[in-house]
Amino acid sequence: MNITKLEVVSFRNIKEEIIEPCEGVNIIYGDNAQGKTNMLESIWLFTGCRSFRAAKDSELINFNAAKAKLSLDFFGYDREQNLSLEIEKGRKFTLNGVKQPSASKIMGEFLAVIFSPVHLSLVKEGPYERRKFLDTAISQLKPKYAVTLLQFNKAVSQRNMLLKDIAFHSKLYDTLDVWEERIAFYASEIIRQRIGYVNKLSQFASEIYSGISNGKEKFEISYARQSPVAGDNRQEIYESLKSLLFASRKNDILTGSTSIGPHRDDLSIKIDGLAARSFGSQGQQRSAALALKLGESAVIKDFSSQQAVALLDDVMSELDVSRQNYILNHIKDWQVFITCCDPNSVDNLKYGKAFEMKNGKIINR
Ligand SMILES: Nc1ncnc2c1ncn2[C@@H]1O[C@H](COP(=O)(O)OP(=O)(O)OP(=O)(O)O)[C@@H](O)[C@H]1O
Ligand SMILES: [Mg+2]
Repeated sequence: MNITKLEVVSFRNIKEEIIEPCEGVNIIYGDNAQGKTNMLESIWLFTGCRSFRAAKDSELINFNAAKAKLSLDFFGYDREQNLSLEIEKGRKFTLNGVKQPSASKIMGEFLAVIFSPVHLSLVKEGPYERRKFLDTAISQLKPKYAVTLLQFNKAVSQRNMLLKDIAFHSKLYDTLDVWEERIAFYASEIIRQRIGYVNKLSQFASEIYSGISNGKEKFEISYARQSPVAGDNRQEIYESLKSLLFASRKNDILTGSTSIGPHRDDLSIKIDGLAARSFGSQGQQRSAALALKLGESAVIKDFSSQQAVALLDDVMSELDVSRQNYILNHIKDWQVFITCCDPNSVDNLKYGKAFEMKNGKIINR
């Protein structure tokens, strides 16, 4: 999948701009606060997802305009296509000239992965960010998974409410069975899907990390199940969860929360055998987050035979020249957009296009 033309009108600080990127690496460079990330953000919105940094759609419209208009020509699923987006009160999409009833209808038409400094939290922060990463990635590939997740969360909230009520009405105790069975039913599917996804992602991300580190470091990821949950197939996981939930009742009634299940699991990320979160250097953590994001794109390709466009915001800082060089020159066969401040990075680009941004305009291309 690749973008052939992007038109941006009244979006953030960009008044009117058109870019025709190349199929390989495209660098958008310039000083701070010139509109580089805004450009990537405009591309990202065509995935149908919300912005990775705006809280409200209205923030995306230029301060002096009533609406923003974006248009994207891209090659995907073996044909030329167009998506357009108008942001006014809400977001209105058209796909190949046909109005779309909602953003969710265009999901999967244009595929992209985004790496921005906020994604460093994937490596640096607690397990919540990593679970969210896994759940979002799997939901993109398998929409049914999102439904399972919703049903699981509902069952956990129901059990939690019950745990709190039992303190006052002990005869409710027997009704715990129903919710524990439901939790175990959905949770076993969630764990099975997450393990399958992590196994796939692990192959691609390790290969990418090896490239970034020039073969010098070993990158490993694995699904870190909450320790006592046993079993390899769904039935075994289901049985194990059910008995663990039963055994944890006393403790859970005291805390009023469910202590067993995939909502407590994690993705373990190790570099040379050490946890990246606690022991990784800044550059290693950035490389790890990048490997996960690019790995996510490789899994999409494996699944749908479409290569998602990679949007890499401010990825170069903290990386040494050899790592920068890999990103610029060794990511093959997919379209990449990279923003950076340092114009010297452009000199290291062997093949590709560079765009200099100043005050919301491309002044050099
Ligand atoms: N709705 C808007 N209307 C007009 N200008 C906006 C709007 N939203 C943000 N901006 C401006 O866009 C500029 C920032 O753009 P952006 O985040 O793309 O910068 P950048 O080039 O990526 O900078 P850095 O190198 O620091 O990351 C800010 O100066 C901000 O004031
Ligand atoms: Mg930026």
